Amino acid sequence: MSNVYTYQEIAEHNTPKDTWIIIDNKVYDVSKFLDEHPGGDEIIYEQAGRDATEYFLDIGHSDDALKLLKSKCVGTVDTNSTPVVFEKKQEDAKTESQGNGQLAVIVALLCLVVGFYLLNE
Ligand code: HEM
Repeated sequence: MSNVYTYQEIAEHNTPKDTWIIIDNKVYDVSKFLDEHPGGDEIIYEQAGRDATEYFLDIGHSDDALKLLKSKCVGTVDTNSTPVVFEKKQEDAKTESQGNGQLAVIVALLCLVVGFYLLNE
């Protein structure tokens, strides 16, 4: 397979009907496979247009899964192209704002304690 795609071109294939993912700098068209995926469609779709190497390897897919994956290869990544910066997923953003909220509570409590201490001086 000699097609070479930039990160930007790959990122554009990010819909349920047209889903590409990158694994080990190879590009895979998994559009037709989403419904069949034993791990569910959502988990792959979340990585649509992105590099899913870490996610794919973390699961410890079987040799059969690897063979199946090979059959979906449509090309390779132009690793000299500029990587696409994806917006943070909602969940990440949520965790972050929760973190900020916790920090605000701690700071408020500290202020109360210090204030209380100063008033009683
Ligand atoms: C974002 C990438 C992917 C993630 C996060 C993911 C995740 C998972 C999960 C959670 C399971 C269930 C594991 C279990 O049954 O214990 C699974 C199973 C499976 N996945 Fe994926 N998957 C991904 C991509 C793919 C791709 C691209 C293929 C093949 C084209 C594939 C093929 C399979 C197969 C055949 C199984 C059944 C168990 C096995 O043979 O390893 N997966 N996957």
